[in-house]
Amino acid sequence: MSTPRPVLVVDFGAQYAQLIARRVREAKVYSEIVPHTMPVAEMLAKNPAAIILSGGPASVYAPGAPQVDAGMFTAGVPVFGICYGFQAMARALGGTVAHTGNREYGGTPLQARPDGGVLLKDLPADLPVWMSHGDCVTEAPAGFTVTAESAGAPVAAFEDLAGRRAGVQFHPEVGHTAHGQEMLTRFLYEIAGIEPTWTPENIIDEQVARIREQVGEKEVLCALSGGVDSAVAAALVHKAVGDQLTCVFVDHGLLRAGEAEQVEKDYVAATGIKLKVVDARERFLGALAGVTDPEQKRKIIGREFIRVFEAAAREVAAHGGVEFLVQGTLYPDVVESGGGTGTANIKSHHNVGGLPEDLKFALVEPLRALFKDEVRALGLQLGLPEAMVWRHPFPGPGLAIRIIGAVDEERLALLRKADLIARQELTAAGLDRDVWQFPVVLLADVRSVGVQGDGRSYGHPVVLRPVSSEDAMTADWSRLPYDVIAKISTRITNEVAEVNRVVLDVTSKPPGTIEWE
Ligand code: XMP
Repeated sequence: MSTPRPVLVVDFGAQYAQLIARRVREAKVYSEIVPHTMPVAEMLAKNPAAIILSGGPASVYAPGAPQVDAGMFTAGVPVFGICYGFQAMARALGGTVAHTGNREYGGTPLQARPDGGVLLKDLPADLPVWMSHGDCVTEAPAGFTVTAESAGAPVAAFEDLAGRRAGVQFHPEVGHTAHGQEMLTRFLYEIAGIEPTWTPENIIDEQVARIREQVGEKEVLCALSGGVDSAVAAALVHKAVGDQLTCVFVDHGLLRAGEAEQVEKDYVAATGIKLKVVDARERFLGALAGVTDPEQKRKIIGREFIRVFEAAAREVAAHGGVEFLVQGTLYPDVVESGGGTGTANIKSHHNVGGLPEDLKFALVEPLRALFKDEVRALGLQLGLPEAMVWRHPFPGPGLAIRIIGAVDEERLALLRKADLIARQELTAAGLDRDVWQFPVVLLADVRSVGVQGDGRSYGHPVVLRPVSSEDAMTADWSRLPYDVIAKISTRITNEVAEVNRVVLDVTSKPPGTIEWE
């Protein structure tokens, strides 16, 4: 496999660099992110098909603000500047960047000039774009045509077609900019002259090559949780190094109906992965007996998981050859863990699959640059079971935090039945992909009076908590059709003994969290 010439996305410290790289991939063009501290000679040594300068938090005039080395523009490589990158580019080429006091943040109308250049040609003359700037370019460098302006940015976009260079003050990579992807694509295809040939299969090839290089002949371990991230990460690693990989699946008994089987049978059948299953159901239930406090439950589950996984890992590693641990870290996890300072601890999120502290492994994280939907596409490409690829996010501590009250086998069985019904009806209505996740919660410590048959019942309520979300940081309750809710309610009260009432949670996040515990 030969790696194609990359489009380099130069990261000036924006949260958006990965998003730009992802948009470039969506345009079927290979891209790599490089830090702005990389010397231009080193960037050019990568033989880039184009360079995109990302946004960044600094003012170009601030002391120590990252600058663009004018040498970048003499090599004949097409360059696209975005936001900070646009200003840094303008400055390096002799244009003027000024502090006019006209800040623009958020959705802003953009006026394209009548010819609009290549990027804006034939797009609506009045476009909503996403801005985030204090300084602005007041004069374009020689050779550039100004193609758009906004109230706060007299030069909001410019192009120098002969030099194959362009720039925009706004963020074409974010969804709030209308036609943003179109503009980026036009830069790549029409200004830089790049052919769209990069596909998800290329991502697989590239990762496989990287993993082989990293791992060599050593052995690798991976904890499967049943979720899509660890499943795809392991499948990629398996494709790269085959039986050098051993997966461990700790069955803590807190998964939903059919999920343990999915890992043990369907996943293994689809991938041929070597899997060690540890049946730790009794151990977890024992440790959880009588515990009602949610944080206590999480601590116990986190602690037990580490103990069990550690023991399994030591067995697998008994001959000493295991040096690597696979983790299904995604790009949003990287951003969150880097930027999460100063936030209150709402819930301690133990990701089952975490690293035992004293087992020293090097990490293999083949999904670190990808977003969830890209990971799903990879999973399908790798032939993983659809149900696994499209599984909704599910908390590591599983059903234990969806039983309000103490956890026992009987309550788990009740909740599994109710949850399965909700999932079946959501699927039957064709709504799986409209909902972010759909917790079903058993209020095990609450009873209410009902009438079933000719008699009085005194059973437990079940809560339906379907939510819509982009990233689980905020969420809204999903407006599921009433007939779907009615069907779920009827089936649960008919089919699950002990449950005589179904309620719908209509709380957004905030103030509610997605899970009840
Ligand atoms: P909350 O309930 O905080 O959940 O709104 C946000 C997202 O995180 C999931 N979640 C967890 N995931 N361990 C996990 O791995 C946990 O302890 C945990 N608690 C909540 C939740 O399902 C939602 O997707």
